[in-house]
Order: sequence, then structure tokens, then C-alpha cells
Amino acid sequence: MATPLSIIKRSLSTSAVRQATIKNVTIIGGGLMGSGIAQVSAATGHNVTLVELNTDVLKKAQAGIQNSLGRVAKKMFKEKPADGDRFISETLKRLRGVTSAEEGVQDADLVIEAIVENMDVKHKLFKAIDAAAPAKTIFASNTSSLPISEIASVTNRKDRFGGLHFFNPVPVMRLLEVIRIPETNEETYQAMMAWGKAVGKTCVTCKDTPGFIVNRLLVPYMAEAVRMLERGDATARDIDTAMKLGAGYPMGPIELSDYVGLDTTAFIVEGWHKKYPDNPLFAPPEKLRELVKQGKLGMKTGEGFYKHSK
Ligand code: CAA
Ligand code: NAD
Repeated sequence: MATPLSIIKRSLSTSAVRQATIKNVTIIGGGLMGSGIAQVSAATGHNVTLVELNTDVLKKAQAGIQNSLGRVAKKMFKEKPADGDRFISETLKRLRGVTSAEEGVQDADLVIEAIVENMDVKHKLFKAIDAAAPAKTIFASNTSSLPISEIASVTNRKDRFGGLHFFNPVPVMRLLEVIRIPETNEETYQAMMAWGKAVGKTCVTCKDTPGFIVNRLLVPYMAEAVRMLERGDATARDIDTAMKLGAGYPMGPIELSDYVGLDTTAFIVEGWHKKYPDNPLFAPPEKLRELVKQGKLGMKTGEGFYKHSK
């Protein structure tokens, strides 16, 4: 099995090939995912604009990126720390932060949205940037569970719209799901595939179906693990240990829920349950709702199913 170090090395070495047409990338939302997408884009030579709601969140995102780059550089340039420092500073030079989405999309070849998993909020954003961005700009959403067609429906560029679904932690996970909707034109699809390769990811394509490939399989499994916990079948620790040692997963399903964020996990299952109420795989576990209500969102808030040191 590939180690995290070999994964990062491969990701960075493949990234030497850069797709000519996409140079300027704008990422909207600098949370767990947006920060990671901004980082890998800048590390592979793209000019990146990161859009956040205010300067405080922007600063937090930039600090997180710097920290993560440090982890990558430490491994990549073990023998040559000066080269590692140069890699970090050159990557950071290609990254700027702004607090206005309309301003942030002005020169973009590609815009990737990575804000909260809520259709109304995403619609509001896409309506605004559709009016502000140049006609050539490709729009993509990193949504975990919402239909790309429905997100794109408020724009006048459905032919230049698709899904680019990354995985957490973005600098380490090698996969990118590329989603095309019926209106996505071939040029846009090819540009998204080439850009995915240029940022060091292996691309797979999936239709615009709930959860695409990974989440359609992963999220019902995570939800069933929480139901096991609710039924008292086993403790959280034992469920996680069982799936790590018995099935070879790097994380158990309960710790993975904390890692993904319980709010995001809840948004996914609640949304699917509303749409497909008869599918038992999508039934939202009560414990998940409870923790979200208490503001215990997992690693990002320091507590979820487990307590996490910052
Ligand atoms: N940035 C940069 N490098 C990172 C990193 C980050 N955020 N996180 C981990 N790494 C790298 C580092 O090189 C780290 O080495 P250091 O100790 O020097 O920092 C190396 O990975 C190994 O990390 P750790 O030693 O901290 O821990 P690990 O070996 O257990 O690996 C993991 C961590 C890669 C996260 C691993 O546990 C894992 O693969 N977990 C499963 C993740 C997963 O399933 N993700 C998908 C979630 S679903 C999703 O994303 C889709 C959705 O829509 C919800
Ligand atoms: P997050 O809560 O960590 O970050 C979201 C960020 O978006 C926040 O920092 C927030 O301030 C910002 N934001 C909200 N509205 C905004 C706006 N109008 N303009 C600019 N910034 C705005 O969430 P996340 O986990 O990064 O998830 C983001 C998206 O990626 C969601 O659609 C989620 O489903 C998807 N996703 C999440 C994961 C995961 O493991 N967490 C994996 C793949 C995809």
C-alpha cells in the first residue's frame, strides 16, 4: 500500500505537467476543503485567489495552508530544507486572499466553490459570480452531495459548469471526481480533466448522481456506524479499531465522521433523506443531529464523537 509520503511525492511530481488554458484559479470558501484546493493549485504553479467571508477567516485559512505546506515540504525536501523553504515561499506568493467573490472571479479561468453544503447559499453565490465573471470562466462545485445540475441551474453557463469533487485532506488524497452534467460541453470537461491531472490527482468521471462514487458508498457506511453506536452494539473506539484492523481502512468510520465534519456529514444525510425518504441507507442518525445542535462538529471545533486536541 502507498504511504502518505509516497502519495505526496507522486502528487507533486505528476503536477509538473500544467494545463495551458487554466492558469488563474479562484477558490470560494477557505475551510477544510477550499484551503486544501487552494494549496494544491498554488503548489502546482497556478495563480490562486482564495475568497472568504472576512479577513479573520481568511487569515486562519492562510495560516492553515502555510502549516500544511510545511508538512509537505518537510517530507519532500528532507535532505534540502532550503529548497523546502523556497517551495513554501514561492507557493505562498502565488496565493492571494480577497473577501469579495465578485472581485475574486474577475480574471479567473476556473472557479471552484467550496462553501457550506446548502443549496440556497450556493445559489446566491453562483448567481452573483455568474454576473461578475468573464464568459470564458469555467464554474465548478466541490459539493459532497448536492446535484450539480441544480446548483448550475441559476447560471447562464451550464455548458461551462461541472463538479470537481476533492477529498479530505486534499494535499494527501489522490482522487478527484469529475462530474459532467448533460449541458457540460466537451471543452469544459476536457479542461477539468486536464487541470485535475495538472494538480496531481487521478481523475474519475461519474454522472450527476447522489454522492457520485465515493460518498454514495462511504456516507451510508458512516451513518450505519453511528446507528451501531446508538444501538449499543459496540463502542466508538471498538467500531473504529475493527474497521482499521479488520478491513484495512486508514481511519474508522466514527473518527472519519469527526474528520469530515459532523455538520457536513449531517447536511449530506439530511438532504438525501428529504429527497429519498424511503431509502433506509439515508436515514439520519439521531446522535449526529444532537452533536451538531450542540456545536460539536468534530475536529474543526475540537469535539465531535471524540475530543480532539487543537
Ligand atoms: N496537509 C499536508 N499533509 C498532510 C495533511 C495535511 N492536512 N494531513 C496529513 N498529511 C501528511 C503528512 O505528510 C503527514 O506527515 P507528518 O506527520 O509529517 O505531518 C502524513 O500525511 C501522515 O499523516 P499522519 O501521520 O498525521 O496520519 P496518518 O498516517 O493516519 O494519515 C490521513 C492521515 C492521510 C488523514 C489518513 O488517516 C487517511 O487517509 N484517513 C482517511 C481519509 C479519508 O477517508 N478521506 C476521505 C473523506 S470523505 C471526503 O473527503 C468526501 C466528502 O465529500 C465528505
Ligand atoms: P467548512 O465549513 O470547513 O468551510 C466552508 C467555508 O466556506 C467556511 O470557511 C466559510 O466561512 C466559507 N463560506 C461560507 N459562505 C461563503 C461565501 N458566500 N463566500 C465565501 N466563503 C464562504 O466546509 P468544508 O468541509 O470545507 O466543505 C465545503 C464544501 O466541500 C461543501 O460543499 C462540502 O460538502 C464539500 N466537501 C467537504 C468534504 C469534507 O470532508 N469536509 C469533502 C469533500 C467535499
